Amino acid sequence: VDLSHHNTMALACSADTVITLHDEAQIDALMVDKTAAIKERPLLILSGGSNVLLPAKLDAVVLQPMMRGINVVAQTDSYIDIEVMAGENWHDLVTYTVHQGWYGLENLALIPGLTGAAPVQNIGAYGVQLEDHLLYVRAYHLPTQTWQQLSAAQCQFGYRDSIFKRTPNTWLISRVAFRLHLHEAQVKVNYGDVQTVAQRYADAQGYQHLTPAHVMQAIIDIRQQKLPDPKQLPNCGSFFQNPIIPQAQFTALQTTYPDIVGYPMPDAMIKVAAGWLIDQAGLKGGGIAPIMTHQQQALVLTNHQPYQATQNDVATAQHHIAQVVYEKFAIRLSREPVWINADGSIGYDEHAA
Ligand code: EPU
Repeated sequence: VDLSHHNTMALACSADTVITLHDEAQIDALMVDKTAAIKERPLLILSGGSNVLLPAKLDAVVLQPMMRGINVVAQTDSYIDIEVMAGENWHDLVTYTVHQGWYGLENLALIPGLTGAAPVQNIGAYGVQLEDHLLYVRAYHLPTQTWQQLSAAQCQFGYRDSIFKRTPNTWLISRVAFRLHLHEAQVKVNYGDVQTVAQRYADAQGYQHLTPAHVMQAIIDIRQQKLPDPKQLPNCGSFFQNPIIPQAQFTALQTTYPDIVGYPMPDAMIKVAAGWLIDQAGLKGGGIAPIMTHQQQALVLTNHQPYQATQNDVATAQHHIAQVVYEKFAIRLSREPVWINADGSIGYDEHAA
């Protein structure tokens, strides 16, 4: 089975067996039955493929959770709780909720991928992270073959991190539940240009205040300007994490680079904009062909040879960029997307700090 069209980086990849999952009963049946297809073979759970680097030859049984559906499970005057099946497209969910008048996810518009994968890396953008609105996750725990419901706390969310990312191929996420607001009040517009752009939409419609719909419009605008559409130029979003360094190291760097971009974190740490570091290292639009950084956002690696470039090409470009940045700033960049080995296991990032 050709998977080169099932990963947004468009890396060449083929696998022997791909099983599409359409409902939860099918998952039970598959696990209990242990048919020849999955018996004693490594498994890989593949969702929308927007945050993975697949190997040219994948020797694992690929499970694709494609269950659909959005269900209201509770409602009060101030909030609504919904359960969303893993196979729902994330951006479609965001637009649907905002149009329903269910607010909270608007800052996360236009993130590629499916809902089931959203908790894995605790997707975040423009001042909001998934964990801010997540109620619980329902998942099949593969080692014990049981269904479990994990509260937000049990998901152990961190920056681009969760229990699902730390223990890969262990949890098959089936439903993600959210608590969303029914009042417009709480828009989050304190990141970058969000306020200014949202205001433009509000003014055009004669509104005195910013609604979540205006914020969503603004986010869509900003993302479309900076981030390449994977359908036109294959990529997997931010390729590096924004490194978190001690305040003292940041202050020292500021004396040489007064414009360095960083955001304060707990415990006297600073999250540095990796895109700025790569840009300043002269690598915006650079890299090692066919894997190049994006012209409008150096943090994103793009594939200029769709369906032909391989994981190895990505590694070559990653190492080059990380090395140039390290030589200039003494900061190590860690990879953000998940590296999949040929046997479906997760690759170690040897450049991680
Ligand atoms: N910058 C540059 N040059 C560049 C890129 C960025 O100077 O080539 C500077 C920008 O001017 C800005 C700062 O770096 O001052 C931060 O840039 P931006 O606001 O674009 O955000 P980011 O830190 O690069 C993070 C997330 C994105 C998310 C945006 C908005 C990570 C790894 N990335 O990017 O997430 O959309 O913030 O919240 O945390 C993703 O994870 O795939 C992703 C796209």
